[in-house]
Amino acid sequence: MSIDNRLWSTKAKNLSPYVPGEQPKHDNLVKLNTNENPYPPSPKAVMAMQAVLADEACALRLYPEPESDELRQALADYYGLGLDEVFVGNGSDEVLALVFACFFMKQRPLLMPDISYSFYPVYADTFGVTTQSIPLKDDFSIDIKEYHQSCDGIILANPNAPTGRLLPIEDIKELIAMHPDAVVVIDEAYIDYADNVKQASAVSLIRQFDNLVITQTFSKSRALAGLRVGMAFANPNLIAALTAMKNSFNSYPLDRIAQAGAKASVEDVTYFEDQRTQVIKLRKALTQDLQALGFTVLPSAANFVFATLAAHDAADISDRLRQEGVIVRHFKQPRIKDYLRISVGTQAQNERLIEVLTHILSVDN
Ligand SMILES: Cc1ncc(COP(=O)(O)O)c(C=O)c1O
Repeated sequence: MSIDNRLWSTKAKNLSPYVPGEQPKHDNLVKLNTNENPYPPSPKAVMAMQAVLADEACALRLYPEPESDELRQALADYYGLGLDEVFVGNGSDEVLALVFACFFMKQRPLLMPDISYSFYPVYADTFGVTTQSIPLKDDFSIDIKEYHQSCDGIILANPNAPTGRLLPIEDIKELIAMHPDAVVVIDEAYIDYADNVKQASAVSLIRQFDNLVITQTFSKSRALAGLRVGMAFANPNLIAALTAMKNSFNSYPLDRIAQAGAKASVEDVTYFEDQRTQVIKLRKALTQDLQALGFTVLPSAANFVFATLAAHDAADISDRLRQEGVIVRHFKQPRIKDYLRISVGTQAQNERLIEVLTHILSVDN
């Protein structure tokens, strides 16, 4: 059906929206396409959410706490930060949108890698932010020397998506120090899957650099993609801008259920550690299994791997996997069209992927 946009604003007519990974309607598929957690969220988080619904006075008739203070305090305690250094929003996508609106609508360009989270150019377009795309090196790593130019901001995903590669913390420090009058955003959606997360994460740098914003999410390592909770950590001056922007747009981005569930998830440290370690272990096994089939797999610090098989068409492999009920992500972008991004599933899901791939390759050879 063609859309009649006669009544749309010029702004709405010119939008080029982000296209999310597919969420199929039936669930008998091995779904390895959107980097969700293959395991359920903390049972304590589920109980906390059920308690909100079971409340006899029906707390849901009341608006939630607008600044999500209890959840922010739980995050502040977990990361050793102050309440005024923590911001939360409706998924890190919303937090990122507010970051663009707060810090990048200026004169000089925003620098970002040519291959990264494909929502960044969409936000830039939505908010009229000029961008400059900086090519990754041939091995898909970030060359920080290329970021030595005048800008109002830099945004990087670390680990990067869809490559999974981790930029060392020393490079991040150098990058932030290079640009004291620009805001540097490190999107750590996948950082909990780094082998040494404390050392890999830039959260510990926010007291050292007042121009650093870290974003993270409950959608991956905390298995709550359906709840929509994301956060930012930064100097209180930057958090104040995000709060002002949020309250000029939607004062209550997190409902009562989300605030309660996310808080309980942060407090359940044991469950979180067990799960995250298990996914890291499965990522290593999946990498080896793909390598044994001939794939080249980039080193990943995330809950997905980025893999290519010489002399094979990645789009074709993706289509044939799909015919067998296994969904992975293929991007049609020129530099990465030969790669597949495969989320780490449960052991059984990963085994099924390898089984189907083995079959496809045996037919081809
Ligand atoms: C790099 C990156 N940043 C942010 C997000 C958004 O996550 P959320 O579910 O918190 O909106 C994603 C989701 O896939 C992502 O890959």
